[in-house]
Amino acid sequence: MRNITEHNITDAVVGRFDQCTDPRLKEVLASLVRHLHAFVRETRLTEAEWMRGIEFVTATGHITDAKRQEFILLSDTLGVSMLTVAQNHAQAAGVTESTVFGPFHVQNAPHFEQGADIAAGAPGEPLFVDATIRDTEGNAVAGATVDVWQADQDGFYDVQYKDSDVLRARGVLTSDAEGRVRFRSVLPVAYPVPTDGPVGQMLVASGRHPWRPAHLHFMIQAPGCETLITHVFRDDDPYLDSDVVFGVRASLIGDYRPHAAGSGPHAREVDDPYHTLDFDFVLQRRAEPAPAAG
Ligand code: BEZ
Ligand code: FE
Repeated sequence: MRNITEHNITDAVVGRFDQCTDPRLKEVLASLVRHLHAFVRETRLTEAEWMRGIEFVTATGHITDAKRQEFILLSDTLGVSMLTVAQNHAQAAGVTESTVFGPFHVQNAPHFEQGADIAAGAPGEPLFVDATIRDTEGNAVAGATVDVWQADQDGFYDVQYKDSDVLRARGVLTSDAEGRVRFRSVLPVAYPVPTDGPVGQMLVASGRHPWRPAHLHFMIQAPGCETLITHVFRDDDPYLDSDVVFGVRASLIGDYRPHAAGSGPHAREVDDPYHTLDFDFVLQRRAEPAPAAG
């Protein structure tokens, strides 16, 4: 095809993938081209706008490094991350829903015993968490690895403090024989995603706020079960209906109960007002592989 026009260019580009021997790659690339071309046609994209887009993607690359992943933040704020999570984790009834992983998980966080204070000095109002891990039959999942991470009362994760390498308000626990994990930490608060890069500019330019509603992150892994990556949100948060990364699911809103100083189940452990959170997680058992034929 020599005479490439506005009308035949899409077929011409898709046709160039005809020799691709990887069928999935061929499908994904052809679809990407069709949708990109449809976007250019629908918006009647100007050359100046095309150049602005190139500059935006370039800036996104320049600010990205081992600690800062602006492309994932872009995917998060455009709803692509949550759409991918949702369509890959269409859970069976009763299984706890998944949500976005986010950029603040740390490999090899410290291990804690049941009941430990994982805040490790992070500032915030005390929070006592009592969680159970079960399967869809209601059986306790013992020995599950429960990775928890969260922001402190100032809305920052430990890894965001440039002058400190101390890990705080994160840790790994193991569920006991009854499938329980108990720990102390701090009450999470709403926080803005990083706004000092191109994604922040996009949010400002489009009149969007950068806030995530308060939450605890959990990653729960157990032998024979699908890994669960999720959050438990605070029920009183003003951003539950407008999370900047679209991560809220109604089933993930927890009952964070306030207790006055000197009252309630942990009155003897703290002199200040505190919260408790009880939450039940349900894991999906992995399908057993079919027995070999013959
Ligand atoms: C988080 O929850 O930690 C997070 C998720 C997406 C973007 C930024 C932060
Ligand atoms: Fe978070």
